[in-house]
Amino acid sequence: MKAIVYKGPRDVVVKKVPDAKIKKATDVLVKITTTNICGSDLHMYEGRTNMEPGRIFGHENLGTVIEIGSAVDRVKRGDRVCMPFNISCGFCENCERGLTGFCLTTNPGNAGAAYGFAGMGPYSGGQAELLRVPYADFNCLVLPPDADEKENDYVMLSDIFPTGYHATELAGVQAGDSVVIYGAGPVGLMAAYSSIIKGASKVMVVDMHKDRLALAEKIGAIAVNDSDGSGVEQVMALTAGIGADRGCECVGYQCCDHKGHEVPNLTMNNLVKTVRPTGGIGVVGVFIPEDPHAKDKLAKQGRIAFDFGQFWIKGQHIGTGQANVKAYNRKLCKLIAEGKAKPSFIISHELPLDRAVEAYENFDARKDGWTKVVLKPGH
Ligand SMILES: NC(=O)c1ccc[n+]([C@@H]2O[C@H](COP(=O)([O-])OP(=O)(O)OC[C@H]3O[C@@H](n4cnc5c(N)ncnc54)[C@H](O)[C@@H]3O)[C@@H](O)[C@H]2O)c1
Ligand SMILES: [Zn+2]
Ligand SMILES: [Zn+2]
Repeated sequence: MKAIVYKGPRDVVVKKVPDAKIKKATDVLVKITTTNICGSDLHMYEGRTNMEPGRIFGHENLGTVIEIGSAVDRVKRGDRVCMPFNISCGFCENCERGLTGFCLTTNPGNAGAAYGFAGMGPYSGGQAELLRVPYADFNCLVLPPDADEKENDYVMLSDIFPTGYHATELAGVQAGDSVVIYGAGPVGLMAAYSSIIKGASKVMVVDMHKDRLALAEKIGAIAVNDSDGSGVEQVMALTAGIGADRGCECVGYQCCDHKGHEVPNLTMNNLVKTVRPTGGIGVVGVFIPEDPHAKDKLAKQGRIAFDFGQFWIKGQHIGTGQANVKAYNRKLCKLIAEGKAKPSFIISHELPLDRAVEAYENFDARKDGWTKVVLKPGH
C-alpha cells in the first residue's frame, strides 16, 4: 500500500510499504478514504518529538471496513467508519470512566495511545491506503447513511471537532459565557465553533493569521489580531477590563510572539491575564514532558515559567490533556447528521495522498490559505 512515511525533520515521503493487516481477532482493517493533516503532525514533522523515522503518520482517519477479525461483533464489512485518534480498549479503569484518551491497556506503561503518534504506542497511522484498527467494536464510530455526502464533515469527528469541544468542557463553557481562545488553527476554530454551539455570548479568537481569523469571523466569533502584540489588551477592552469567563489554549508549546519567536509560556500566561477571577481555562494545545530541541533551558525539560501567583490569586481553574474523543463523537455526529454543524468549513485543501509532501510543507509554513488539508488516498 501507499503511505506517508516520516524520514526525519521536515522530510516525509509517499512510498510503498507492506499492507496493514489484521493482527488480533478484535481488529478490523479499514480502507482509508479521507485522512487529515493535523497541527499535532507538525510537532513531529518538525523534529520536535521523539518520532521514529520510518513510522507512518495519520491519526484523523475515515474509511470503509474491508475485513473483520473473528472476535468483532458489531462492526460489519462495508461499514463507513470514523476512528477517534485515541486507540482505547473500552475495559480499563480509565476507559470505563469515559477517559479514553488515557487508556491503560493500549500503550502499556503509559496512559493513552494513538495512530501514528510520537510516544503513543507503536501503531501505524492512517495517512495510507489501509489502517489496522484495534478493539474495533469499541473504537469505530459507524457513520449514518449520508456518510459519503458529508464525509469531509464526519472526518473532523476523528480529532479536531471533539478536541475543540473538549477544550470548552475543560474550561467549563456554558450558555451565556464569554470565551477567549488562543489559536485560530483548526483546533482553535473548532473550540470557537463548539462555544457558539453551546450558546456562548461572546467568543474571541486570538491569532496572527488573517486567513484563519477570517474563518473565525465567518462563524460569528470576534477576531483578535495579535500581529502587533496587542492581543491581551484587545481582549481586556472587549470584556470591560475584567477578562473572559472562560479561556481555551489551542496552540501548545510551540506558541510564538508576534515576531514569530517561540515563547513557550506565552499563551498560558496570556490566559491567566485575560480570564476573569474564578474563570476556567481548558488546555488542549500540546505541551510535552521534554523538548530537547527547544531554545530555552526550562523548555528543554518540558517546563514553563507559569504565572502561578496570578493564577492562584484569581482563583482560576485549569484542565489539560488529550481529548477523550469517544466522550463526544457520537453526539457531535448527530449534530452533523441533523445539519446543525458543518465542521468542514475549515477545509482549505482536498488533495490526493501523492501530494502529501507539498501539503506538509505549506501547512507547516502556515502559508496563507492553508488552514486544513484533507487527503484522499483513493484518488
Ligand atoms: N489535546 C488534544 O487532544 C489535541 C488534539 C489535536 C490537536 N492538539 C494540539 O492543538 C494545537 C493546535 O492544533 P492545530 O491543528 O490547530 O495547529 P496549528 O499549528 O495549525 O494552529 C496553531 C495556531 O496557533 C497560532 N499561534 C501561535 N502562537 C500564538 C499565540 N501566541 N497566540 C495566539 N495564537 C498563536 C498559530 O498562528 C496557528 O494559527 C497543537 O498543539 C496540536 O498538537 C491537541
Ligand atoms: Zn489531530
Ligand atoms: Zn482502556
